[in-house]
Amino acid sequence: MSILEIDTVSFDEATRELVIIDQTLLPGRLELMRLSDAASIREAIRRLCVRGAPAIGVAAALGLYACAVRIAPEADFAAEFARCAEQIETARPTAVNLSWAVKRMRKAACAPQPLEALRAEAFAIRDEDIRVCQSIGENGLALILDGDGILTHCNAGQLATVRYGTALAPIHVGARRGMHFRVYTDETRPLLQGARLSAYEMVEAGMETTVLCDNMAASLMQSGAVQAVFVGCDRVARNGDTANKIGTLGVAILARHFSLPFYVCAPFSTIDMACPTGADIEIENRAADEVTEMWYKERMAPQGVQVYNPAFDVTPASLITAFVTERGVIRDPKDFEKYWEEKYHG
Ligand code: MRU
Repeated sequence: MSILEIDTVSFDEATRELVIIDQTLLPGRLELMRLSDAASIREAIRRLCVRGAPAIGVAAALGLYACAVRIAPEADFAAEFARCAEQIETARPTAVNLSWAVKRMRKAACAPQPLEALRAEAFAIRDEDIRVCQSIGENGLALILDGDGILTHCNAGQLATVRYGTALAPIHVGARRGMHFRVYTDETRPLLQGARLSAYEMVEAGMETTVLCDNMAASLMQSGAVQAVFVGCDRVARNGDTANKIGTLGVAILARHFSLPFYVCAPFSTIDMACPTGADIEIENRAADEVTEMWYKERMAPQGVQVYNPAFDVTPASLITAFVTERGVIRDPKDFEKYWEEKYHG
């Protein structure tokens, strides 16, 4: 089994279960996880078994459909569905795709035939994700040249979406056309999404990939090996300030110092026009042991020490060269309005 043949998030029609790749086991083991109740779906999102903003949104949508088909005929459908939606929506706070997808499903649940409407909406959200990532790949490819060195942070590849990814989509699209890129992936402390997931994805796809520790990006840029930075995002505020994996801000500052373009690949589902600035984005704080113990054979920080472990940081719009969206490359966040489609956002 190779991840190239599997969707990161899918739905088993026979058992009516949400199926995800359990990303906590990668790259050592490729195993699928089947889920059909709100508590388990919430926990899978919280533990990062499924992670990456678009993938979380699709998992919430397909997962809510799996929950809905199991609501007993004698139960109060609306109340039971609302309970599941609330449980899943609050699993993680920063990626707006989660509340965006749940909002769309809540609306579908109000239709006269809620199960049919929920099914149609969940599959539409899944299919849109695939199309959107393909378009981001095409639009991003126009910004780079054959042979370029591309630095990425965290994982905004196929494991963060259903297929293709956002920040890594241009590399996949280019490779299919015979182009060659040198991909550099920051390891992305503390949960190693770069080393464990982006590098794994690139190796599986036969791409030239180099992993570096997060504190090596400056030296790599100074060496001249990097021509552009591509990252994903969890929430883009109306003014263009962008929350993404912790460490992204540092990479953006470095890119500015070395005069490198810094591109944020942003599906419109991740742009939150109701959020005025980056200061209004809630940043998830995660458990201390992710920093002090996880991945180590023994604890690597003294007992009793305090730990700072925000999962995301906010890069100001002023450091972002352009947003690569499915609707085009947007250089000025004021232009989000021009491309906005109210219908799509519910
Ligand atoms: O905590 P994670 O692994 O869910 O963080 C993911 C990221 O920060 C990604 O860069 C982001 O969600 C974009 S995915 C296309």
